[in-house]
Amino acid sequence: MATALCPGSFDPVTLGHLDIIERTARHFDSVIVAVIRNPQKSESLFALEDRQDMLAEVTAHLTNIEIRYFKGLLVDFAKEHGAEAIVKGLRAVSDFDYELQMAQMNQKLSGIDTFFISTSPRYSFLSSSLVREVARFGGDVSSMVPPIVAKRLAERFHGGGE
Ligand code: PNS
Repeated sequence: MATALCPGSFDPVTLGHLDIIERTARHFDSVIVAVIRNPQKSESLFALEDRQDMLAEVTAHLTNIEIRYFKGLLVDFAKEHGAEAIVKGLRAVSDFDYELQMAQMNQKLSGIDTFFISTSPRYSFLSSSLVREVARFGGDVSSMVPPIVAKRLAERFHGGGE
């Protein structure tokens, strides 16, 4: 039974994240999506629990997925939950340096390997931070995030629906 971990801040989950999660779910028996507070990032928009709820809703069609949130070291969480692989999406070369460094650190700390999936080109420009910024100023993010996330963003920034 091979379990993979898809970690991230998911603040909020985008269609790019969802694509990586769906593709990971095809390759592993089970997938744990770990919503983690990134200590390198300042204030988050959504609480961990809200991010977890949104992820649960948008992955409801997948049967081998579990969503959890976690504060602490990723490798401790991975060991605790029997995950033997970490899976991350790579959007562009600019992601590579930092992702490689984290993969090597996680390998050194725990022996757990990281596997990279190339982000689909249609999502390579997408990031949660840009989505937050576009939504904050009233831009249309409906082609970048699942509908429930677009709704939550609109509520958060403009106090309304879509
Ligand atoms: O979506 P993000 O913010 O790019 O995800 C980064 C994340 C949360 C996966 C990374 O910051 C992480 O693993 N944080 C947990 C703390 C940890 O284990 N740090 C050491 C990483 S080598």
